[in-house]
Amino acid sequence: MLVELQAQHELDVWPGDDPIPRQELLTRIAGADALICVLTDRIDDDLLDAGSRLKIVANIAVGYDNIDLPAVRRHGIIATNTPDVLTDSTADLTWALILGVTRRAAEGDRLIRAGGWKGWTFDFMLGTELRGKQLGIIGAGRIGRAVAAKASAFGMNVVFARRDGTPARGPDDRTIDEILISSDVVSLHVPGSPANRHLIDRKALARMKRSAFLVNTARGSVVDEDALVWALNERLIAGAALDVFANEPSVHQGLLKFENVFLVPHLGSATRETRTAMAALAVRNVLAVLGGEAPVTPIL
Ligand code: GLV
Repeated sequence: MLVELQAQHELDVWPGDDPIPRQELLTRIAGADALICVLTDRIDDDLLDAGSRLKIVANIAVGYDNIDLPAVRRHGIIATNTPDVLTDSTADLTWALILGVTRRAAEGDRLIRAGGWKGWTFDFMLGTELRGKQLGIIGAGRIGRAVAAKASAFGMNVVFARRDGTPARGPDDRTIDEILISSDVVSLHVPGSPANRHLIDRKALARMKRSAFLVNTARGSVVDEDALVWALNERLIAGAALDVFANEPSVHQGLLKFENVFLVPHLGSATRETRTAMAALAVRNVLAVLGGEAPVTPIL
């Protein structure tokens, strides 16, 4: 991939595994025609001013809450993301979370490692079965639909709420409130936009069944984490599985004490295959724009 870019353009690659420090990015962006960035890079007026030659910002992520889109437009720059290529891996991880939290997989792992397993007993560490239960998907986009496509393998019925909460258009469509009050697993697949901030707040959590699980592979900002800790303390829901957090990489301390909370460190798209495809798509976007063509996957 980088070879393709290098054949046509001069590259400046940040060699570190950790995100590039902000000041370093602001310095190195001067003179660049394109930026390939990741979701930990904040793309705002300061960066776009520093990179006054930029024509494209290619985000290696489907989400783009790290990009100030009005600022990008003001600067006359194209922004792109990486949809589709990560849909299946994120849907798979969602199922890992659903299965993990309902069957207490991480809790069992912790118990074994702590030397706490005393042996098989009839009613030891019982979980919750999925067959015949309802999966409520909030956000009926590509990833939400891909999660739904795998639900029949586990015998779950699926209902959807559109991200804007608009009521039924098809037989499986529900309002967000209908999803909350009737689902056994509620899975979030909305973008991390300001409009969706704290979509799941105290009020929403209080509407869920006490036996229900909340799953978030979308963005941390969609869930009010204080409210989630409160709901777990009050046993208003049965558990939660989270791939994303409000202040990554720090995780709300209140969540750590619950055995019925399954936490993974933002791994939705983290397979070799998907990350390779995401990087390749970002490169294609850059090559297209610098070659005077339309971007492949513009953020509109
Ligand atoms: C990952 O969270 C992404 O938005 O691609």
